[in-house]
Amino acid sequence: MSSKPRILTVGAYGQVGRELQRSFSDAGEITVRDRDTVDLAKPDEVRAMVRSAAPDIILNAAAYTAVDRAEGEPEVAMAVNAQAPGILAEEALRTGALLVHYSTDYVFDGSKTGPWVETDKPNPLNVYGTSKLAGEEAIRQVGGKYLIFRTSWVYGPHGSNFLLTMLRLGRERASLKIVDDQVGAPTTSVELADATRAIVSGALAGKFGDVPNWAGLYHMTCGGSVSWCGFAQAIYARSDAWLHGKTPVVTPIDSAEYPTAARRPLNSLLSNEKLSTCFGVQLASWEAGLDSVIRRLKDDLPGL
Ligand SMILES: NC(=O)c1ccc[n+]([C@@H]2O[C@H](COP(=O)([O-])OP(=O)(O)OC[C@H]3O[C@@H](n4cnc5c(N)ncnc54)[C@H](OP(=O)(O)O)[C@@H]3O)[C@@H](O)[C@H]2O)c1
Repeated sequence: MSSKPRILTVGAYGQVGRELQRSFSDAGEITVRDRDTVDLAKPDEVRAMVRSAAPDIILNAAAYTAVDRAEGEPEVAMAVNAQAPGILAEEALRTGALLVHYSTDYVFDGSKTGPWVETDKPNPLNVYGTSKLAGEEAIRQVGGKYLIFRTSWVYGPHGSNFLLTMLRLGRERASLKIVDDQVGAPTTSVELADATRAIVSGALAGKFGDVPNWAGLYHMTCGGSVSWCGFAQAIYARSDAWLHGKTPVVTPIDSAEYPTAARRPLNSLLSNEKLSTCFGVQLASWEAGLDSVIRRLKDDLPGL
């Protein structure tokens, strides 16, 4: 690609979308779209959006991510998480554009001992996971130039996420009960966006060879593993400046003691070996990722 590529970022104001905007800000001519300009549940709007932007790269960070609400709205979840990505893939194939899409650890049922690899058989436990798996399959069926990155436990400096919820609850409550039998890798939107930029730039520059060498599905998470309870404790250990010594007491509980509409996998750990072998890219450990998001929050929101 000789001139600067046209980049269409969909879901541009979600957690990952905002960081993609930052990371790709000098990578090309950027068009951003979110719910205020397109309804991804409407196929005609999805197609029209791509045709009018005529992108070389589509970064799809949009998704129906309300995991519990999805149990009661399976049609909307399927439209946004499965049909819309399929249409993005068809439009990308038509013009030879690259489609980048994100999926989730929730495609697995959590029953494996050890990290899940890309060739493991998915078996989602909930509507959200089912719809995201259908989105992966829709893209794969269309084929072409695509990258699907399955990630887990996403959080960052913006949006609705576990870190910001814990900081708020830490100021409001003296004690909290947090699930300790679900294990995963908390992954920052910042790390995800920067790794995506590195891989997309390399792929389009021919660093990884022809398209069939690199197009496909990859796991992409921060390194290490922790339970939600351990993650909460790590957050509070780094948040003294905001909590003024009033760190809440965190009590570990089992998932059974915290019933939710959607079932969640106990083991959400994804192996990043394929990502590192194919692209030479490795995300930070979850602890280093957390340190860096906390640093950024302290700069942006000193009084939080
Ligand atoms: N969050 C996680 O823990 C997690 C874990 C694994 C994988 N992922 C995947 O990572 C990707 C990015 O997730 P994220 O955490 O950045 O999600 P997010 O913060 O919830 O952002 C998703 C964006 O999509 C938009 N959107 C939803 N429905 C739409 C519709 N019908 N039309 C137009 N826009 C719509 C949302 O707009 P509104 O804000 O207006 O709804 C929001 O801006 C997704 O593919 C997600 O499945 C996330």
